Amino acid sequence: MKRALALVLYYGVTSHIQSSDNPGTIGERLNRFLVRRIFRKCGRNVNIRPRVYFGSGRNLSMGDDSMLGQNSIIGSTAEVIIGNDVMMGPEVLIYTSNHGMEPGIPMRRQPLQCAPVCVGNDVWIGARCIILPGITIGDGAVLAAGAVVTADVPANAVVGGVPAKVLKYRTTNGSKASAAAAGTGAAHIAGGNIAFPESRS
Ligand SMILES: CC(C)(COP(=O)(O)OP(=O)(O)OC[C@H]1O[C@@H](n2cnc3c(N)ncnc32)[C@H](O)[C@@H]1OP(=O)(O)O)[C@@H](O)C(=O)NCCC(=O)NCCS
Repeated sequence: MKRALALVLYYGVTSHIQSSDNPGTIGERLNRFLVRRIFRKCGRNVNIRPRVYFGSGRNLSMGDDSMLGQNSIIGSTAEVIIGNDVMMGPEVLIYTSNHGMEPGIPMRRQPLQCAPVCVGNDVWIGARCIILPGITIGDGAVLAAGAVVTADVPANAVVGGVPAKVLKYRTTNGSKASAAAAGTGAAHIAGGNIAFPESRS
């Protein structure tokens, strides 16, 4: 099936069907069938909740067993890579471009400044988070509900607030040192280059 037809069916029909955590629902299976033909890369068992907008989807890659939350908007002007086992609450916004802000020229006439967003493996993105262009979220991180993420998030950090700050680390004692010792940097983000994570299959 051609991408254009898959997009028409997704936005016109299947994105409106209520789905759930149950991987067997018809809506979820139809969405999965279509997004495999829409996304740049798509892992196994992705779960696309109702009314997610991702533009053409051609810059979006998703790993295995990851989800996009209901009513979320995923920017499409630069690459977005989402790892394996990523959970996402409703109404999350991931943006990949800023407008130019040079004085003296109307901002709407200035070129967009685009930058990719990369989300590691095993990340939980709470409801209504906003992730800004160019951000990398480390493996195992938690973004608290309503966080506005303006800087890279270290592995295993729990961040929240506006702008998001580290609240604690997901370790037995909550310390940054033991989070680093756990050795779970975003393995697929090497030297500033992002690559699709290894599939478990
Ligand atoms: C981030 C979260 C998981 C933290 O839970 P927790 O480990 O129980 O943390 P606590 O409630 O003990 O809070 C720890 C600190 O973080 C702060 N905090 C918690 N949630 C916050 C949020 N959303 N924004 C800003 N700060 C937050 C607390 O005020 C507390 O600060 P303090 O130590 O100065 O008092 C939870 O608050 C959250 O936001 N969950 C997201 C829920 C959601 O979006 N679900 C959608 C379905 S996927």
